[in-house]
Amino acid sequence: MRLFIATVLDNVRVADGYNELAITWSRETEPPLPGQFATLRCGRSTAPLLRRPFAFSSFDTFSSIAKMIVQERGPATAILARARPGDSVDVLGPLGNSFPSPAPGCTPVLVAGGVGIGPIVYFAGRLARLGRSPVCVFGARSAGLLPASVLARAGPSLVICTEDGTEGIAGNVVAGLESLDADVLGRCEVYVCGPSAMMAVVAKFAERRGARCWVSMEQIMACGVGACMGCAIRVKSPEEYARVCTEGPVFDACTIVW
Ligand SMILES: Cc1cc2nc3c(=O)[nH]c(=O)nc-3n(C[C@H](O)[C@H](O)[C@H](O)COP(=O)(O)OP(=O)(O)OC[C@H]3O[C@@H](n4cnc5c(N)ncnc54)[C@H](O)[C@@H]3O)c2cc1C
Ligand code: FES
Repeated sequence: MRLFIATVLDNVRVADGYNELAITWSRETEPPLPGQFATLRCGRSTAPLLRRPFAFSSFDTFSSIAKMIVQERGPATAILARARPGDSVDVLGPLGNSFPSPAPGCTPVLVAGGVGIGPIVYFAGRLARLGRSPVCVFGARSAGLLPASVLARAGPSLVICTEDGTEGIAGNVVAGLESLDADVLGRCEVYVCGPSAMMAVVAKFAERRGARCWVSMEQIMACGVGACMGCAIRVKSPEEYARVCTEGPVFDACTIVW
């Protein structure tokens, strides 16, 4: 982990309300892995005061360029949405753990919605390079919220679901999961990143089928490095709580108290 000043190389609108930000990554810092995140200081004034966490949607080792998908939600993400090539951004990372490798013989089934699409697409690319064939299920309320150019990097096995039926299967990601072949679902390991309610239903779906499920938890963070306990979530362990920024963000779904 390192604190450094990155340069914005590109900032491209990829869907309604979503940009993909490309920044230089310090070569003295370890490469960020799928599932890990960095905290960014957004803007130069004291507001917003706290750094904000963002996961990686890609990393190119050769050029040392990291990308993140940013959804405009409030003051910090509005500043990032306006970032221009050449701007500086203060980065701390990589932070947290990463998605674990699927067990041999299991099909990795990757599920994402919203800002979860970035890290899941990055993970899908990494798995493909390791000779695994992930199946990806992406969900959104409507087609305009899906970043088509980013999804194209997820590989050939792609299931799209939209709640209003404007693209792919009409329904949520569970409808997408139910559409998968029985032999995929029979021996799979599930990875999910997105809104908490979506992750909870996917975790239940996996549990019913006896499949291992990993969830990347999203929690409002203050320090991002394990010092403040601001990101604690309830878990089934003697400690009762775990910090998303340090023990996570990726957890075995069966340890989470939803
Ligand atoms: C590990 C991790 C990885 C993340 N990766 C990404 C990413 O790749 N792309 C991306 O766009 N966002 C990501 N986020 C969420 C991002 O950090 C928040 O959207 C951002 O901090 C919002 O800042 P803001 O000032 O724009 O909005 P704020 O004014 O801080 O928040 C706007 C609204 O969003 C809600 N909110 C803010 N942060 C979170 C959060 N972490 N979880 C749930 N609700 C929240 C607030 O309650 C509020 O209603 C990630 C969060 C975590 C913890
Ligand atoms: S954000 Fe401070 S401990 Fe996680």
